Amino acid sequence: MDTNSGFVGFGAGKVILLGEHSVVYGYPALAGPLSRGVTARGEPSNKCQLIIPDALMPEQRKVLKAAFSRAMAACDEPGVKVTFNTDLPLSMGLGSSGALSVACARVLLQAAGRKGSPSEVASVAWEMEQEFHGTPSGVDHTTSTMEQLILYRRKPGAESGRAKVVESPKPVRLVVVMAGARSPTKMTVGALRERQKRWAERYQRIFREIGLLASEGAEAVEEGDLEGLGDVMNVNHGLLAALGLSSPGLDDMVHRLRSMGALGAKLTGAGGDGGAVIGLFHDTEPAVHELTRLGYRCFDSQLAGPRSEGARGAA
Ligand code: PMV
Repeated sequence: MDTNSGFVGFGAGKVILLGEHSVVYGYPALAGPLSRGVTARGEPSNKCQLIIPDALMPEQRKVLKAAFSRAMAACDEPGVKVTFNTDLPLSMGLGSSGALSVACARVLLQAAGRKGSPSEVASVAWEMEQEFHGTPSGVDHTTSTMEQLILYRRKPGAESGRAKVVESPKPVRLVVVMAGARSPTKMTVGALRERQKRWAERYQRIFREIGLLASEGAEAVEEGDLEGLGDVMNVNHGLLAALGLSSPGLDDMVHRLRSMGALGAKLTGAGGDGGAVIGLFHDTEPAVHELTRLGYRCFDSQLAGPRSEGARGAA
């Protein structure tokens, strides 16, 4: 512990490049970290507590309190008062709850005098994620813990899935843009679960196809085939729309990014009424400039691959 600043833990936000939702049903997803995320800080205290920002709604406060209680129990309730802040757009499909879970896990483990190995961090964060999401696949907190581009596959019933690091010979650069407010992930995932129960065979067929796209996308990344990756992203968006997970606002933004020269564009995260859309670009700057001029909240991010000397870091 640094006696001046107390304990500090960071949890990265994430972007799902391919495979959201079908990952919940055991198919692979390709996901990478953002350098934006959640920073938690801990001060010694006579009890273990999370200071919840006043701006949160009563329902959000209740869930957050329950999630933190599970994490603190997993760390034997060390005496620490935890606060947090974030530069990540919240509830937009960028893994804010996974990032918060990882940040809190890191601070709690430090306060408990534990090493905080990646598997310990993931295990404590998983406690919080289950409270936030109900049936999370684990892709969010795993990407946040590992901070690398990964091909992730859930092991049903297990604490976390298998993650294979995907190396890229070329920079994978995205524009991330917010396209309207959306419902909580838990609701979108729950509604899809009901539809897939009713029409199981058709929905499983689509999930399986999306899983294949995620694996093909990982191969395209490894081969430096960004056009191929873009095409897979476009097809994935079409299948997410077929599953009822897109909206006019998300579709419009996907088309806008393509018209700006994106190699591929799709919704990312849970989708639904709104949320974040990603576009893959060779050069992100002109699109970020134009979207900002039009009043959209957006940023660019490099998910993987070599960084050129003096280049801006991932946003
Ligand atoms: O929208 P987010 O950031 O909560 O991501 C959800 C990703 C899903 O695949 C829809 C759910 C999950 O647990 O993987």
